[in-house]
Amino acid sequence: MEHIPQELLQSFRPPAFQHSYFLSFEGIEGSGKTTQIRRTKEFLEDHNFRVLILREPGGTTFGEHLRQAVLSNQTQLHPLAEAYLFAASRAQLLHEVVMKELSVPNTVVICDRYLDSTLVYQGKARNLGHRLVLEIHQHFPLNLVPHMTFFLEVSLTTSKDRQNVRNNPKDYFEGQGDAFYRKLIEGYHEVRDLFPERIRTLDGELVPDEVFAKIQEHLTVLLKTNDAKDK
Ligand code: TYD
Repeated sequence: MEHIPQELLQSFRPPAFQHSYFLSFEGIEGSGKTTQIRRTKEFLEDHNFRVLILREPGGTTFGEHLRQAVLSNQTQLHPLAEAYLFAASRAQLLHEVVMKELSVPNTVVICDRYLDSTLVYQGKARNLGHRLVLEIHQHFPLNLVPHMTFFLEVSLTTSKDRQNVRNNPKDYFEGQGDAFYRKLIEGYHEVRDLFPERIRTLDGELVPDEVFAKIQEHLTVLLKTNDAKDK
């Protein structure tokens, strides 16, 4: 894997708000993100948190325009154009929504995809490299990363089976060949090694209840650790 300088990795940190948390969910199509995000929201609301779910790209008026522009695009964009568009949408989302919401105590912001998607889709699958993607994000507010990221890991076969069941019209990144998906899977493994403290891997092949039980364990530790820090 390419060398990434430690100083670059260290420029990424979670937002420093007390009693508020930033979470993200990652995985290839069909990994079960939607179900687990919904369950996480319910769990946290039961623990008296105010929970917001955001999707990337999107989440702001400008971001939704960009989402539409990229995902409905018929021609292949240059990978750098993709990376900057996703980063632009993210900067606006952080500025307009994430920072403001997290400044309210007892809030959890959950992002359906975040920086790791850009590292994996543009950095790995589109060959830009992780270093370049990290460099694009190294300045505030793009250097803010979640307190915890849940990576739902599924095999290529499972991803394809689940996509076939849904049978939705394919968008810009869907319906790519196996080689593309293999790169995504490999990319997620690399990114997890870059951020071992932040990213938790879950076996997305398990039934949803079992996957959620693991998420719940991780969340309980996260909430307890932070409570202890405040004392
Ligand atoms: P979406 O329909 O939200 O996909 P999914 O349901 O799989 O989350 O579409 C988002 C697509 O954009 C998805 O294929 C991943 C891709 N993407 C990137 O390539 N880079 C990024 O930085 C982000 C956030 C998403």
